[in-house]
Amino acid sequence: MMRAKIVCLNRNDPDEELIKEAGEIILNGGLVAFPTETVYGLGGNALDPEASNKIYTAKGRPSDNPLIIHIASWDDLEKIVKDVPQKARLLGEKCWPGPLTMIFNKKDIVPEETTGGLDTVAVRFPSHPVARKLILASGGFIAAPSANISGRPSPTKAEHVIEDLADRIDMIIDSGETDIGLESTIVDFTSDKPVILRPGYYGEEDIRRILGDIDVDKTLIKNDNSLKPKAPGMKYRHYAPKGDLTIVEGERDAVIDEINRLVKEHSEKGYKTAVLCSDETKDRYFGAEVISLGSLSKEEEIAHHLFDVLRTLDSRKVEIIYSEAFNTQRIGAAIMNRLLKAAGHKVIDLKK
Ligand code: TXA
Ligand code: MG
Repeated sequence: MMRAKIVCLNRNDPDEELIKEAGEIILNGGLVAFPTETVYGLGGNALDPEASNKIYTAKGRPSDNPLIIHIASWDDLEKIVKDVPQKARLLGEKCWPGPLTMIFNKKDIVPEETTGGLDTVAVRFPSHPVARKLILASGGFIAAPSANISGRPSPTKAEHVIEDLADRIDMIIDSGETDIGLESTIVDFTSDKPVILRPGYYGEEDIRRILGDIDVDKTLIKNDNSLKPKAPGMKYRHYAPKGDLTIVEGERDAVIDEINRLVKEHSEKGYKTAVLCSDETKDRYFGAEVISLGSLSKEEEIAHHLFDVLRTLDSRKVEIIYSEAFNTQRIGAAIMNRLLKAAGHKVIDLKK
């Protein structure tokens, strides 16, 4: 049963009445899915513990996995965090509003339900005009995880949100496709040195150029189950398509040969197979459904398409999937972080 009211809002000139209506739903403890420049978020009042509990229930998300609080002004930051270190201010001045989340020590006004029991809080100041207007109309603080059912790819279109959550929330705002298509970069400022907990549109080098010496959460570098990531959500398997996904890595011709061989082997056994590749290589595969994520020279395009393609595999009922690696210059680390999770870290490395 469809419960959510679906409204279309022009990203640059959203209807003020509908923004007001959405803001009132949040102020009254309800849930509204809304667009941001990264992915769609599932929003509730961040200062209302009951609203946060509703978010966990709607997503089917473990309640130890904290939510990001979305703000629309620097002044509001001071109301929810104890202190803003100099380096955080510097990074924020360069990257906010935008696809960056920063972790601070929280003030008491932020309920533990929102932070999954932690004393710290994740804060993001998004740039998407509809998100900013909605935050202001909702009292200034929207708690929002990505608006997908826990474990599924994050939504980059309103259709994805409708698919997952239409019967579980009050309103879905449709402003078309999100720009970036991968979730924000998370940087933790609660220890001596800033630490990247999740790569995103801003990569390690971008942050280092601004801040100098930084650390990267060890679990991002090494796939070792004994290490515990500092962002609780990073420990969960994510984005996985229903089909069995394997990444094949190595020199280009060798990768193409191996994928074609594997596809043939599995097609002969009757499996429905697919290949995820780039514009540069798409004409060299045969015998499978071939899906290009875009040109390797336009890494933004690849990031933008990734989650939508992962959902497409499910709707086409693909059973066996092979993907090339996308180690592109700047956003490659974020793309591969998501793709590796989707594959449950199953990689055939032809260099070894
Ligand atoms: O781009 C984004 O960040 C999107 C849009 C909607 O803003 N949101 C998003 O939220 O990706 P979510 O809930 O899917 O991912 C939030 C991540 C999780 O891995 C969570 O564990 C981590 O942030 N996180 C939240 N609060 C934290 C905290 N206090 N300390 C460490 N990690 C935290
Ligand atoms: Mg998420």
